[in-house]
Parts: sequence; C-alpha cells; structure tokens
Amino acid sequence: MNNRLSTTFLGNKLDNPIMTASGCFGYGLEYKDYFNPNELGAAVLKGITMEPRNGNFGTRIAETPSGMLNSVGLENPGIEEFKKIIPSIKKELNIPLVANINGKILEEYIEIAKEVEKIKEIEMVELNISCPNVKDGGMAFGANPEMARLVTREVKKVLTKPMIVKLSPNVTNIVEIAKIVEEEGADGIALINTLLGMAINIKKRKPILGNIMGGLSGPAIKPIALRMIYQVSQVISIPILGMGGITSTEDAIEFIMAGASAISLGTGMFGNPKLPIEIKEGLKKYCIENNISNISELVGVIHPDGGESYRNRLGGSYEIKG
Ligand SMILES: Cc1cc2nc3c(=O)[nH]c(=O)nc-3n(C[C@H](O)[C@H](O)[C@H](O)COP(=O)(O)O)c2cc1C
Repeated sequence: MNNRLSTTFLGNKLDNPIMTASGCFGYGLEYKDYFNPNELGAAVLKGITMEPRNGNFGTRIAETPSGMLNSVGLENPGIEEFKKIIPSIKKELNIPLVANINGKILEEYIEIAKEVEKIKEIEMVELNISCPNVKDGGMAFGANPEMARLVTREVKKVLTKPMIVKLSPNVTNIVEIAKIVEEEGADGIALINTLLGMAINIKKRKPILGNIMGGLSGPAIKPIALRMIYQVSQVISIPILGMGGITSTEDAIEFIMAGASAISLGTGMFGNPKLPIEIKEGLKKYCIENNISNISELVGVIHPDGGESYRNRLGGSYEIKG
C-alpha cells in the first residue's frame, strides 16, 4: 500500500516525518518499552560534547503551566563513549540517526563535528547553537548573527553529512539568523529550542532551578514555534525541522502547514510516551480523509490570504513594530 507519510529529509528517505527532539529520547532505545522506535522517521539523539559533562547542579526541572523548565546543562557521556555505544544502538534502531553536537567555543564545535563525521552509523548532524542552559557556547552562538555565521561556516567545512542548524528562539530577529545560516551552507534548520525562563519558590524565596534560569518547552511555546517556522519558511529554501510543544496530530499538522518538512517530539513524550505512534496514525488518517496522497503536499500550505487581513491591520507589514 502507498505510504502517504513517506518523505525525504536532507537526502534521507524516511518512513514518516516524525522524529524525536534532542534531549527527550536519550540515545534511542530508552522508549522501547512503550513503542518500537523503528516506527519513527528518524531519531535525534541527546546532545553530545567532546568531554563528558555532569550537567547543572541542583534542581534541573520545574513544571510550569502548559510546559516545563529544564536546566539539564547538556549532561552527556562525551564523544568517546558515544562512539562506543552507537554501533550497538544502530543494530536495534534501523532508522536514520541524527547526532546533536555542542561546543563551548568554536574549536570544540569543529572538533566534535570532525568526530561525528567519522561515525558511519550517524546519517545527519544537528548543530545546536541554541542551548540556554550552559554557561559558555550554546545560545551565545545562536543569539548573535555573526557568531551563528562563523560556527555554521566552519562546521560545514568539516562535514559531508547533512547539517541541520538548530536555532535559538531567544532572539529579536529569527529571520536574519536563519538567512545567515542558509547562506553559510546549512542543509536544514531546526526550530525551536527552548525559551529562557525562570520559576521561584516563594516559601524559600529562591529560584526553583539550581541554575536559576532554564529553558521553557511544551505546549506553552507552541504559538512562538509556529510563528518562527512560518516567518523563516517565507525567506529560506532549505527544509525546516519543526518542534516546540507538539502534543497531538493537530499540532503536528499545524507545524507542517506552517512550513516544517519534518517534526520533532520533545516534552510531549514525557507525558505521553506513545505520542509518536498516535501522531503517526493520526497523520495517516488525516491524509486518507482529506485525500492527500503524500504528507509533503501539506508543507507550508497555509494560504497567503489567511494572512491578508492580518497584514492589512498592521498596515502592510508582518513586522512587529516596538
Ligand atoms: C529535558 C530536555 C533536554 C533537552 N536537551 C537538548 C539537547 O541536548 N540538545 C538540543 O538541541 N535541545 C535539547 N532540548 C530542546 C528540545 O530538543 C526541543 O527543542 C524543545 O524542548 C522544544 O520542543 P518541545 O516543546 O516539544 O519539548 C531539550 C529539551 C528538554 C525538555
């Protein structure tokens, strides 16, 4: 039977456009008691760094209305351990794997990219320049257009594997940064990472997170993610991997209609570990009921007239005037 969900993402044939979000699926096998991970389109693995990292001190998670704050701080076993475990993971996980790479300084990004390039079990690389939970690197690169340019350009030089650049939503002008990373050779863009936030324990008069601030994820950020994906999709021609608060089939369809060619599921999987399977079934049903022969027909379809009244109200511009 024709698979209405099959798609190609950065040259990789995927059974469906559903991936995991980095940091929410471990290294690929942690969810296998809940569903067969081979049902996914691809798996984006937890962020890795050159050296092992213990992550941040103290409380790392706080629940918020419609979401959560995390300040895990990129805890991971480091590249050497990653290289050892990947072959056995690949034996069980017969889908494209995406390594999420991180660095404190430019040289570390380049070094880790070179290492990942050598790992044959990894099909794609997600360059994370948007982690808000680490003191150095991460968001510092993604929030500054010239740093984003530099890291994208230099990492691209050492990779032949497709490179997705994961952008930070903690910026005023996401479009400018997206255009820059496309110019510098990104093959795809991932949007969005978490939004910087905080929570306070009023009894103790202290921040809840040990790191004081953390990244907000979950349904609370969905409208922002959709807005950024839409804005970016209007100006770039490389594919977008969309994420940020997806918890249902309807959400997934919204992301695709806004301009995402594939989607990643993160926080939503903590509350509902079978979410990928539910969304996969939901998307299939939606395609059948709406006579859509392939899901890719829906990418970016929101009708321009849908924005017309909005544009008129703003006096002919999408820009928010501050
Ligand atoms: C606990 C946790 C850990 C995360 N770790 C990473 C990471 O290592 N690398 C990364 O690029 N994003 C990381 N993220 C961000 C997610 O991949 C995703 O971009 C974000 O949470 C928005 O999607 P969601 O609302 O569906 O969770 C993490 C998110 C959470 C909640």
